[in-house]
Parts: sequence; structure tokens; C-alpha cells
Amino acid sequence: MQSHDVGIKDAVKMYGDFKAVAGITLDIKRGEFFTLLGPSGCGKTTLLRMIAGFNTIDRGTISFGENVINHVPAHKRGIGMVFQNYAIFPHLSVADNVAYGLKARKVPGSETGPRVKNALEMVQIAELAGRMPNELSGGQQQRVALARAFVIEPSVLLMDEPLSNLDAKLRVQMRTTIKKLQRKLGITTIYVTHDQEEALSISDRIAVMKDGLIMQVGEPTQIYKKPENPFVAGFIGVSNFLDCDIAGQDPNNAALTVAGYKIKDVRLSRPFTGKGKIAARPEYLSLDAEGIKGTIELSTFLGDFIEYEIMLESGQAIQLNEYTKDALSVKPDGMEVRVALDASAIIVYGEGGEVLT
Ligand SMILES: Nc1ncnc2c1ncn2[C@@H]1O[C@H](COP(=O)(O)OP(=O)(O)O)[C@@H](O)[C@H]1O
Ligand SMILES: [Mg+2]
Repeated sequence: MQSHDVGIKDAVKMYGDFKAVAGITLDIKRGEFFTLLGPSGCGKTTLLRMIAGFNTIDRGTISFGENVINHVPAHKRGIGMVFQNYAIFPHLSVADNVAYGLKARKVPGSETGPRVKNALEMVQIAELAGRMPNELSGGQQQRVALARAFVIEPSVLLMDEPLSNLDAKLRVQMRTTIKKLQRKLGITTIYVTHDQEEALSISDRIAVMKDGLIMQVGEPTQIYKKPENPFVAGFIGVSNFLDCDIAGQDPNNAALTVAGYKIKDVRLSRPFTGKGKIAARPEYLSLDAEGIKGTIELSTFLGDFIEYEIMLESGQAIQLNEYTKDALSVKPDGMEVRVALDASAIIVYGEGGEVLT
């Protein structure tokens, strides 16, 4: 089956008076690996189930290609679905689990065997075809669930936290498997996770959600480097937030004052004078002779980098990372330091969270 683009227009889902999905608009391109990322309870599963046809849609439209599918039943949408808990049938063998969807779609028996074999080979468990689910590890069960979704050649693949039940190492292995398969097959994929590292590593684009709304849509590097609001900056990776005074009558040559320390040559998107906030990633801060005074509370050597927890004079704790290759030694706890901020690597927010850089 040919893969579709997926259009979501002002979609709303109500539970009583509560808007679990509060007006979401997204254009997901054909063949794209698109991720819904956000904290628990923000409406990811609800939206995915609306796309799948397991939830009704209270307002707005969802389309596959040209066709609005609001009222198309789930089994006629041509979707493949993978769940967190695998949801494979315990009384059927691996091969029969994978064949199930083909039988339900009345695919001729002569075609079923080769397609099941092919799907099991794709996820590298061909040798397990005759096993029962209780004879499989968690990772193997998840591969069965993947094969079962791929075998029907869905037009859209939906995955809801498919790796959360696996241990950390297997999770990283499986996400590579999923990404490679998705690339090879070119199936439009909508993936749900609350794990930001997983989202950054696997996606073509990410929509960050909060309270049933989209906070930002973008490629992983955009989301990480240019978070459009403090929520995204705080949710993706680690950000240090510091209060600042902004003197930006001339937006091309603004100055910030952070904890008594002046940062010059800041470019703003518009003139702004007043109070604001900056967000700075730990790897963009450095220890220098000039900068905000603080004391190292805890230094942690992590191999490729050293993580410092620093208490600023203002009483605020921040995190600063130094690459081991750039460091002469690990600085001891209790050492007084100065934290320098690079004007080009910070994001400035005005009051209310408006992004100014
Ligand atoms: N069937 C339901 N009835 C009432 N409230 C629900 C139902 N399903 C989900 N919710 C609520 O909707 C919100 C979003 O849930 P969900 O989509 O499962 O979040 P996520 O998948 O992002 O963790 C939550 O506050 C949840 O409690
Ligand atoms: Mg969920």
C-alpha cells in the first residue's frame, strides 16, 4: 500500500469538560518519521488513538492524503500499530501472530507464508517463527509486534511508547532497528514517546506537546538549539534558566545583565527593554577568569565530559559541562570559579516567555 501524508486540522478531544487534545494542527509528510513528544498526560496517546480510529474526534479533521478519515473505522484506515505492552496473542505462535492481520484482511494463503517470513527477517527473528510468546524475551516480543505491524504494509505506522518496557541497552538497539526499517520502507510513521533523547535520535521532526497543545514543531537540531519557549528549553535536554535585565533599544547591539555580569553584543529579533530570562545549555557555559562568581558544589567525571554543579552567588544552582579533552584536570568541589556565558549560545526570553533571539 502507498504511504500517505497525514493532515491534522484543529483536532479536539474532550473527556467531559476536559480537553485532552485542545486544538492541534499538524502536517506530517509522506514517508516522514514524526514524533509526538511530551510529559505524561499531555495528550499524546489520545491524539494517536484519534489518528488510528480508536478514539472519536470531537472537532476538526484528520486526513490521510486527500481523504478526511474522521468517520472511517479503524480497520479500514490501513494503519499498523505498535503498543508499549506489545499486545501479541499469547495462544498463537510467532508466525501465527504475524499472519493474523493478513488473515483478517483475507490475503490468500499462498501469499501469507512468504510475507510472514519476510516480515520476520526484517526484524531479525526468522528463526523464532515456531515459538510461543511465553518463550520469548521482551525484546523478541517487541520484534514480533513490529513484524505484525509491518506485514500488512500499512499506509501509516503508529507507535505508542514501543520501547518503554525494554532495558536501556535494548532500547537503544531497537530504536536503531526501527529507524533503519522505517527509512528502508518509507512508511509515514507517527511515534509517541516521553523520552527526549529517544525523540531526538529517531525522528525527522518532533512536535513537543504540553496540556493538549503543540509547543513547537521542528527538526531535532532546531528543537534543541532554538527552543521557541521556556517549556521546550526545559523539557529537551538540560537548560539553565537565569533572570536577566535586557537593554535592547538597538536590537542589533543589545546588552544583558545576568547576576551583575554584563553580556554585550547580543542580537535580538526586536527592540526590547526590561526583565527577561536566558536559557543556556551546560555545554555552552565555560569556566573563565571573567564571568558570574560561583562555587563548585559537585564535580562528576563522566568519561567524555565533566559535569559541574555550581552554586552562583545569587543562590541559584546551575549545571556546566566541560569536555574532558578540553580540560586540564577535574576541578575539585568547593573551588571558586567564574562562569562565562557566550552571547551567541544563549536564548533570551522576554516576559511571558516570548523568544527574543
Ligand atoms: N478515557 C479517558 N477518560 C477520561 N480522561 C482520559 C481518558 N483517556 C485519557 N484521559 C486523560 O487525558 C489526558 C491525556 O491522556 P493521554 O493522551 O493518555 O496522555 P499521554 O499519552 O500524553 O501520557 C490525561 O489527563 C488523561 O488522564
Ligand atoms: Mg500515553
